[in-house]
Amino acid sequence: MRLYFVRHGIAEDLATSDFARELTKRGRRRVATSAKVIQRLGLAPREIFSSPRLRARQTAEIIAEALGCGVTLSEAVNFGFDRAAVRRLTKNLSADDEVMFVGHNPDMSLLVSEMTGVDVSMKKGGLARVDVIGRAVDEGELVWLIAPKVFDALQDGMKATAAKDGVSLATPEQKLPATAQPVHELIKHRWSPVGFDRERDIDRETLLSILEAARWAASSFNLQPWRFIVARRQNHDEFQKVLSVLREGNQSWAQHAAVLMIAVTQTNRETDTPNRHAVHDLGLAVGQMVMQALEHGVYAHQMAGIYPEKAREIYQIPSEFEPLTAIALGYRSEELDHLGEGQREREAAPRQRKALSEIVFTGSWARPAAFLREGKA
Ligand SMILES: Cc1cc2nc3c(=O)[nH]c(=O)nc-3n(C[C@H](O)[C@H](O)[C@H](O)COP(=O)(O)O)c2cc1C
Repeated sequence: MRLYFVRHGIAEDLATSDFARELTKRGRRRVATSAKVIQRLGLAPREIFSSPRLRARQTAEIIAEALGCGVTLSEAVNFGFDRAAVRRLTKNLSADDEVMFVGHNPDMSLLVSEMTGVDVSMKKGGLARVDVIGRAVDEGELVWLIAPKVFDALQDGMKATAAKDGVSLATPEQKLPATAQPVHELIKHRWSPVGFDRERDIDRETLLSILEAARWAASSFNLQPWRFIVARRQNHDEFQKVLSVLREGNQSWAQHAAVLMIAVTQTNRETDTPNRHAVHDLGLAVGQMVMQALEHGVYAHQMAGIYPEKAREIYQIPSEFEPLTAIALGYRSEELDHLGEGQREREAAPRQRKALSEIVFTGSWARPAAFLREGKA
């Protein structure tokens, strides 16, 4: 059995009671960083037992969210956590299981020291792995001990590798949504930046893959009512042409994108009757495009702010087609000096959404679906 011991992150000094002491902002940030590394390390605890004290619980919850598992609060992991408690909490688990405990010092350090015979001092937010030897669950080998500083360094390393490999871990922390339910990593990491890398182009293969993803979207009667007018930054004249179709507010940041495109929808069927679902289908195709882009580490920012009639004129778009939106694609840049203050603020602002109860109904309009509450059908 593999046991992981975590000491809670940095907490506020004062609160109404010791029980209610919360993680500080820095504490949360650091634990979130650790959680990402822990996830990357492939830890898969069957159970996370946490002390019910708020700072431990918050630490456990941040880790649990990253690993997609739950937290069990247990008094046994509170002050006084000891070998007997480890035995009790693991008695129904099998030898192959992994278990995590989130608690407090000095008990956590003392316990790990006693179990392993190694003098261990756990920092706030630190993590120790102890592999149980033989049948005695309260004796083991200290396999590693990670201090929060090391987590920070590992996370920096992961970011650098991610940037090199073109995957999407470059998303800044404040942009990661506090999703109420688990969602795919790509959905979690997607957002609409205005800060694009002014140097890094999107190579042809990547761009083709992004467009291919749009091509394979579902559409009503398979009419595929989408067209894309695309310009790469390398083709200066074409890029400027698309740029000129954007409203000025969008031009100011979209000029730094690597690719610009105009998304056009076919409003009529071949029979000349209107296709009421054309806009829906274009949105779906763009949705797929955006996710495929992020898989390559490329971010997308969609824009309604265009001059459609200008696009129609420049590109001689036929009347049954309608230029609807534009899309900027590019690698994200953290260097934002060239942007206006409002844009820099927007880049740092946390992302928000309506609650499920505001958008998911059953029975009649605006009645939140009953199943949104636990135990209801
Ligand atoms: C169809 C559409 C049109 C949009 N138009 C603009 C726009 O013209 N200018 C802009 O800066 N952002 C635009 N956005 C971006 C939205 O403001 C952004 O998606 C929204 O605020 C949610 O933020 P997030 O994508 O970072 O989660 C548009 C997004 C969509 C889907």
